[in-house]
Amino acid sequence: MKDILTAPFLKEMCATTANMYRLGWDERNGGNISWLLDTDEVGEYLDLNHVIRTIPTGFDATALIGRIFIVTGTGKYFKNVTDDPAGNLGIIRIAQDGTTAELLWGYTDGGQFTSELPAHLMSHIVRRSIDPDNRIIMHCHPDYTLALTQVVPADERAITRVLWQVMTESIVVFPEGVGVLPWMVCGTNEIGEATAEKMKDYRLVVWTLHGIYGCGKTMDEAFGLIETVEKAAKMYLLAAAKPQLNVITDAQLAAVAERFNVNYRKEFLDL
Ligand code: 13P
Ligand code: ZN
Repeated sequence: MKDILTAPFLKEMCATTANMYRLGWDERNGGNISWLLDTDEVGEYLDLNHVIRTIPTGFDATALIGRIFIVTGTGKYFKNVTDDPAGNLGIIRIAQDGTTAELLWGYTDGGQFTSELPAHLMSHIVRRSIDPDNRIIMHCHPDYTLALTQVVPADERAITRVLWQVMTESIVVFPEGVGVLPWMVCGTNEIGEATAEKMKDYRLVVWTLHGIYGCGKTMDEAFGLIETVEKAAKMYLLAAAKPQLNVITDAQLAAVAERFNVNYRKEFLDL
């Protein structure tokens, strides 16, 4: 059995959480990540027959029975993950009943997975039905994205247009736009279901006055989506309250989308 601390997925969880903390996206215990791992790869590091303990999830994830995820712990600080991966992360497998998580590694202080597990697993189910290679769900609280939701209506077209209009790359990176949820109580099955519903149409879902969800085949893809939204939100807010003399016009947005051959959401433009 290989040492799990040398596993590429564990190293990448450490590097990513540290990076997100450094960017200010994850104050205190803010944010959470789940990564669907390859079972054979995990088997190189862990005895898959050894379940440390079981933890009820409180919702049905039948579509993910037998699947193994590495997930950030609830109440854990991203800044501490690298120094103590086993205390701040856990590796769980969805049990045969679909509603229990089997702990295979981690959460060493008796803790458990993020309170946002419903949004994560429900989003994994939806995204994998669209793209079977999707593996990452990432949630965080980036400054400018949150601030944007104070000053722009909580509306997909309105927020997407602002993000597209102020930075040329936006429509190339997220041509489908961003999904938006109104303010809701977090950590519930309800917000999980609402997030997953949006994930049918979007790889990014903004939670008004809370944060953002991104997904992807890789950590880079999920991270890059959120990073691009955050950058565009920053550009908008840096210039907000000043006369906005230039924005990318709808015709220009369409021209960029055509040049990069991306299937953008046509109803978000007035052409
Ligand atoms: P957890 O500490 O349970 O992951 O919650 C953090 C968070 O961002 C809630 O939305
Ligand atoms: Zn949050």
